[in-house]
Amino acid sequence: MAAPPEIRLSRDRQAWAAGAAELVQSVGQEAVAAKGQFLLALSGGATPESLYRALTSPPFAGRFDWSHTIFFFSDERCVPPDDPRSNYALANKALLTPLNIAPSQVCRMAGESRDPQAAAADYEQHLRHATKTTAPALPQMDLILLGVGADGHTASLFPRTPILQDRQTVIAVTQSPQDPPTRLTMTLGVINRASVVLFLAAGAGKAGVVSAILDPKTEADRQLPAALVAPDEGRLIWLLDLAVAAGLSRDRVKMIARED
Ligand code: 6PG
Repeated sequence: MAAPPEIRLSRDRQAWAAGAAELVQSVGQEAVAAKGQFLLALSGGATPESLYRALTSPPFAGRFDWSHTIFFFSDERCVPPDDPRSNYALANKALLTPLNIAPSQVCRMAGESRDPQAAAADYEQHLRHATKTTAPALPQMDLILLGVGADGHTASLFPRTPILQDRQTVIAVTQSPQDPPTRLTMTLGVINRASVVLFLAAGAGKAGVVSAILDPKTEADRQLPAALVAPDEGRLIWLLDLAVAAGLSRDRVKMIARED
């Protein structure tokens, strides 16, 4: 039975980014202490950029030894790695290069592949190798970062698509309603296997969808892709700023442990 989400609220975007950086580094420290490595999946979209800036600036820069971390991606657009729409491109510019992360520590989804299905199968093998799992067991990440789209999608799992029912596939090829159309994505099976899933959501533009997900009123709300993220045994944390939490009902907000 999945644990309820831990909902954390930050007063502004700076405190929100610092809270996210704190969480990433503390989960990383625990993973390295327990297993000698930290398997971290970065989310796509633009939201993580402020987290990356926090991780590469004082006080967080230099506070955590990244040498035991392997960086994965929750999803990728099927474009070349230097395309500005690539999730890898943002992470490489804003996080991996500033932290001097060795290429051997980065497991990139081959968005440039002319055969996305082959790229998905290849990425599954990398995940299985890093997590020492063989099918049908699902790879277990230590931390998966996720964002949420205004339509309730997360990673590249879009509403009302069959992949949402699939709990065997590890990496799927999906079609997005937004450009670029073809995507590679971790599935809910892998996401819900993670030890910690951290949703990063901020800004008034997401208040409606976050309210639908965290305070569902209809079955449609409960079937939104981001609402289906409920780790089997792991922790689910939503990190919100005040603007995005504005849509939450009063009693839901009362339950929030103020982050700062
Ligand atoms: C992607 C992401 C996607 C993203 C949300 C939020 O490839 O676009 O994985 O799930 O996290 O769409 O995007 P923003 O952070 O840009 O709002």
